[in-house]
Amino acid sequence: MNTSHQLPPEMAPSKYIEKVSLVTGETLDDEIRPDQLLVHGHRDYHIVDVHARFMMSRIVNATGDEEEARDRMKRMRSLGRRTSRVLARMIGEQNPEKVSKALFGLKDKEYYFRYRKHHLPRQEIEKRIDGLRHAAEERLGEISSDGRPHLRVLLTGGTGFVGKEILWQAAHNDNIEEVVVLIRPKNIHDRKTGELLEVITPEQRGKKLLEQLWLDGPEERCKFRFLAGDVEKPNLGISEDEVAGLEKTITHVIHCAASVAFDDPYEDAFRANVTGSLNALRFSHALQNVDGGRFVAHLAIETSYIHGRQTKQLAREDEILFPRNFYNNYYELTKAMASIDTERFMLEKDLRVVQLCPAIVIGESKAGNNRGDTKVVNAPVNIFGRAGAALADKKGSWIDRSKASALARLACVFPGDPSAQINLITVDRVVAGILAALERPGATGRRIHLATDKHITSLHIRDIVREELGVDVKLAEPTLHRALTLPLLTRVLKRLRQERLAYALKKLGTIFGGYSEWGQPVHEVGRDARLLGLSEDRPDTVHAFRMLCRHNHRVQQFGAVRDLDEISRRERIWWEFVLALEAKHDSAAGAIPAEVFRREFAARIDPASFEPV
Ligand SMILES: NC(=O)c1ccc[n+]([C@@H]2O[C@H](COP(=O)([O-])OP(=O)(O)OC[C@H]3O[C@@H](n4cnc5c(N)ncnc54)[C@H](OP(=O)(O)O)[C@@H]3O)[C@@H](O)[C@H]2O)c1
Repeated sequence: MNTSHQLPPEMAPSKYIEKVSLVTGETLDDEIRPDQLLVHGHRDYHIVDVHARFMMSRIVNATGDEEEARDRMKRMRSLGRRTSRVLARMIGEQNPEKVSKALFGLKDKEYYFRYRKHHLPRQEIEKRIDGLRHAAEERLGEISSDGRPHLRVLLTGGTGFVGKEILWQAAHNDNIEEVVVLIRPKNIHDRKTGELLEVITPEQRGKKLLEQLWLDGPEERCKFRFLAGDVEKPNLGISEDEVAGLEKTITHVIHCAASVAFDDPYEDAFRANVTGSLNALRFSHALQNVDGGRFVAHLAIETSYIHGRQTKQLAREDEILFPRNFYNNYYELTKAMASIDTERFMLEKDLRVVQLCPAIVIGESKAGNNRGDTKVVNAPVNIFGRAGAALADKKGSWIDRSKASALARLACVFPGDPSAQINLITVDRVVAGILAALERPGATGRRIHLATDKHITSLHIRDIVREELGVDVKLAEPTLHRALTLPLLTRVLKRLRQERLAYALKKLGTIFGGYSEWGQPVHEVGRDARLLGLSEDRPDTVHAFRMLCRHNHRVQQFGAVRDLDEISRRERIWWEFVLALEAKHDSAAGAIPAEVFRREFAARIDPASFEPV
C-alpha cells in the first residue's frame, strides 16, 4: 500500500530512517514510503521466490541448520542471477535485472536502510548515561525516608492488558503511594447504526477497573486516582490545573499506552505509538525541569520486536539497528521509531529514561489469567479451540455436521515453521520488571529486554494444543500458505458465505504468520536480572502456554465470554482452583498432565455456571 501521498511531513519515515547507497555509501534523497520498510514489501511477490523459501524451510526442518539454509538461498539467488545474465544476452536485453526480476523474482538492492541516529562516540554516550544514572540515584535518595522510596506514578495505558497487571502489582507494593492513571473517555456506539449511545467517563472507567481487579477495598481505592487524558494530545490532554498539581508530586511516568494492532494502517499506528510517546516524553521532560519537583525517571514501555526481523545477529539490548529483514508490521516499525525518539530525549535533552522491551506477552505464569485479553497469541488459540468445539459437536443434520467439520478443519491450518522460536513472556514477569525499574537507578539510560531464554517452537505449540484442546493443528509453510493457499482458501470460503471465517483465517495467516517463520530473531536477555534484580530463572514458557490454553478454554470459552465483570468473577474462582490444585499435587499447575488437570477441573468446577461444586 502506497500511503506516501497523504502523509503529513511529521509522519515521514525519513525523520527516522535514511536510505544509503550500497555503491557509493552516500545517503540518498529518495522518498521513503512506510510500505517499503515492511517484510512484505520485499517478498512474496513472485512464485519462484515463494518456492525457494518453501524449499529453505524444508531444509531447516530436515537439518535444523538455519545457516546452511541461508547459504543455499544465497547460492540459488546467485545461480538465478547468472542464468538471467546469460538469457539476457541471448534475447538481446540490455538490463539483465529485468530478466531476473521477471523470471525469478530477484531484485538487486542497491541501497540499504539505517536509522538516523546521533553520531556520538560510545564513550561519550556512556559518560552521559553515567551522569543521568547518578542524578536518578540522587533524586531517588531525596524521595526516600524510613529506608524506602515514596513513589508516585503517572501511568498511561492502565486499562490495557499490561496496564491492569501494573495496577494489580502496584496495589500490593508498599513503596508505591499513589498511581494516577490517565484514561480517555470511552464512546459506546450502536453496532449497526454507529449512533453514539453512551460516553463512559474516565472516573467511571477507573471505578469499574478496580472492581474487576478485585481492588475495590477502601484502602486500595485511595491509592489510585483516574485522570482524563489522551496520549495523542499535547500535554497528554491533561488540564492545566491538574498539570500544576502533578508537577509537584509525580516521581515517575510509566508510558504504557499504545496501539498493539498488527494490522493498523501506518498513520494510526504512528499517532498512537510515536505521537503518543513523544507527548509522554515531553510531559516527563517538563516534570524533570520543574523547580522543587520530585521527578526521578520516565519508563518507556516498548517491545523487543523493535528489532523487527533481525536474523543472524542476536537482537542486542544496547543497540537498535534497522533490521536486515525489515519489520513485520507498522506496530513494530512505529514502536522502533518511538524508541529512537526516547534515545534522542535522553542524549539530547538529558531526560532520565528507562526503556523496557517486553517480548510477546501472555497471561500470568501460575494460572494464565489475562483479564479478558484476546490479542496476539490468544487469537490463534481461540480459533483452534472454537474449531475443535465445532468438530466435536454432534448436533444438526449430517450435511450441517459435514460442512461444519470441513470448515473447522480449514481453521486448524496454521502458518508456522516447526522450528520457529516464539518469544513468549508472562505478564507478571514483565510487570515485575517495570516496577523494579522504579527503584533501580542503575537501569537509567538502558534498554532492557523483558523476554525469555526458554523459547517455545511452533512444534511445541502444536503439540500442547493437541494435548490440551484435542485439536489437530496442521502446520503449513508460512510463505507458501500466505502467498498461495490462503488467497485461494479465502475465495472459496467467501463463495460458501463464510466471510467471518475467511476474515479470521486471513488475519491469522497474514498477521501472525510472520512470527512463526524460520529464522526468528533471538532477543538477548540478561539486564532484567543484572539491572532490575529479577530472577535469572525466567518463567517456564511451556507451562505458561499450557495454562494459557486451559484458561482460554474454560474461563473465556475461547473468546465467547467477553463481559469483563464475568471474566473477573471467573478468574477469581480459577485462581483459587489453581492454588488448591498446586497444593494438592505439590507441583506447578502447568506441570500437571492434561488428563489429570481435566479430571480435577470436572470434579471441582461446574463448567456451565463456573461455580465451585
Ligand atoms: N501485549 C503484548 O504482547 C505486548 C508485547 C510487547 C510490548 N507490549 C507493549 O506494552 C504496552 C501495553 O500493551 P498492552 O498489551 O497492554 O496493550 P492493550 O491491551 O491494547 O492496551 C493499550 C492501552 O493503551 C491505551 N491507549 C491507547 N491509545 C490511547 C490514547 N490515545 N490515549 C490514552 N490511552 C490510550 C488503551 O486505552 P483504552 O482502554 O482507552 O483503549 C489501553 O489502556 C504497549 O506499549 C505495547 O507496545 C505489549
